Amino acid sequence: MKRAPGPKGALIWGSLTEFSADSLGFLAEAAHEHGDIVRMRFGPVTVHLLNHPEYVEHVLTRNASNYDKNTRSAHRIAATTGDSLLSANQVAWKRHRKLVQPGFQPSNFTGIEPALDRLIEPMLERWQLAGEVDIVDEMMQLVIAAVIEVLFSSSIDTEKLNAALEVVLADTWRRIEAPLDASLLSPRLHRPAFKAALKEIDGIVLELILARRSSTQRPDDVLTRLLAAHEGAGETHLSDTELRDATVTLLLSGHETTANALSWAFIRASSGGHEAADPATIFAEAIRLYPSIWVIERRAVEADTIGGYHIPRGSSVLISPYLMHRHPKLWHDPERFDPARFAGDHPRARDGCIPFGLGEHRCVGLYLANTIGAHVLNRVFARFRLKLLPDQGLGLSPGITLRHEGPVRMRLHKEGDDV
Ligand code: HEM
Repeated sequence: MKRAPGPKGALIWGSLTEFSADSLGFLAEAAHEHGDIVRMRFGPVTVHLLNHPEYVEHVLTRNASNYDKNTRSAHRIAATTGDSLLSANQVAWKRHRKLVQPGFQPSNFTGIEPALDRLIEPMLERWQLAGEVDIVDEMMQLVIAAVIEVLFSSSIDTEKLNAALEVVLADTWRRIEAPLDASLLSPRLHRPAFKAALKEIDGIVLELILARRSSTQRPDDVLTRLLAAHEGAGETHLSDTELRDATVTLLLSGHETTANALSWAFIRASSGGHEAADPATIFAEAIRLYPSIWVIERRAVEADTIGGYHIPRGSSVLISPYLMHRHPKLWHDPERFDPARFAGDHPRARDGCIPFGLGEHRCVGLYLANTIGAHVLNRVFARFRLKLLPDQGLGLSPGITLRHEGPVRMRLHKEGDDV
C-alpha cells in the first residue's frame, strides 16, 4: 500500500518540534508542498493532514465509526472538562450529547436578543466615551457575559472567570504541543497557574449549580434544560460532577471561539468597508478566514485507505478548517474578505466549508454562536464605525482556538460621522 508524501522530520520527534514552533505555518507549508494528504510523524505517532472535502467527509461522516477522539488533544483537554462532550470516552460523550444537544435547539434561543441587548447597550454607552477600544478584550468580556447569561441566567462578575479560562486554554495548548506531558501521569504535576485557574472556574460553576439546585426558580436557560434533560431520553439525572463537566465544557468551547470570531469580523468588515452587509454573512465570512477551531484531530481505530494512501491503525488524522477555507482550488481569491460569498447559496462541507465541523461531533453551539455573532455586529454597526489604528499587529496565535497575537486597538466613530 502506498505511503502519502510528507516531510521527513527529525529522528526522534519527527515533525513535532516544527509543529510546536509554528503550527499553522508548518501545516500550511506541508499542504502547499505535498498536497491534499500529507504524512508526517509527531514523536511515535504517525499523523496525516487531510485537506480535501472528500477525505474530510470520509473521516467525519462516511467512515466516522473508524475515527474516534482517543487523541493527544482530547486527553489533555479532559484535565479541565472531565468526561463530557469533548471527551475521548465514547460512552460518556454519547450520554452528554443526548442530554445536552436538545437544550441547544434553535427554538431555545429565538428570544435571546433582549438579554443580549442588556449586555451590549452598557458596552456601547462605555464606547461612546472611550474613543478607542481593544476589540479583542471587548469581545472576550462581552461573550463571556453572554455565555453565562445563556447558560445560567446569571450576571456574576465575569472578569476572574475570563482570566481563568484564558490560563486553562493556554496551558492545555502548551501541553498538546509539548513532546512530553508529566500531568498525564498525575494531576498533581500540573503547573500551579493551571491548578489555580481550574479551582477558580470550579468554584464559580459549582456555586451557580448549587444555587440553582436549592432554588425553586427555573429560568429558561441551558442549566434548567440540563437539570431536566433525562426526561424522555431514558437516562438518569446528571450528577453534580456531570453538570460541572458539561457546563465547564460549554464555557470552554463557547466563549473564546465566538469572541475571536467576532473580533476578526469587526477588524475585516471595518477595514474593507463591509459594515452595511448582512451581519450574518459578515460573521460567516469571518469564521471562514479565521475558523476558531482551526484544527480537528481524530484517531484511526483500524487501518484505512484514504485517497489511495495507507492510514495505519492507531495513527492520527488532522483536518484544518483554516487550511481548507483558504484552499486555492476550492475558493475563488481565498484570502479576500467577501461576505457576499455567504449571501444566497451558503457554501457547504462538500465545497470545503466546515467552520463548525461535520458529522456526529458537529458543534452543538452553532446556532447560538451565529445568533450572538450576527446580533452583536448588527447592534455595533448601527451605532459606530470602527477603524483600525495604525501599526496594529494582526498576527495569528493558534492555540486551542485561533487567537489574535495581541490586543487590537480600533478607533470609534459615531455612525454617520465622516471617518
Ligand atoms: C464561532 C464560534 C464557534 C466555532 C467556530 C465552533 C467550532 C466548533 C467545531 C469545529 C467543532 C467540532 C470539533 C470536532 O469535530 O472535533 C465544535 C464542537 C463543539 N462546540 Fe463549537 N464552535 C463555536 C461556538 C460554540 C458555542 C457557542 C458552544 C456552546 C456554548 C460550542 C460548543 C461546542 C461543543 C460542546 C462541541 C463538541 C461537540 C461534540 O464533540 O459532540 N461551540 N465547535
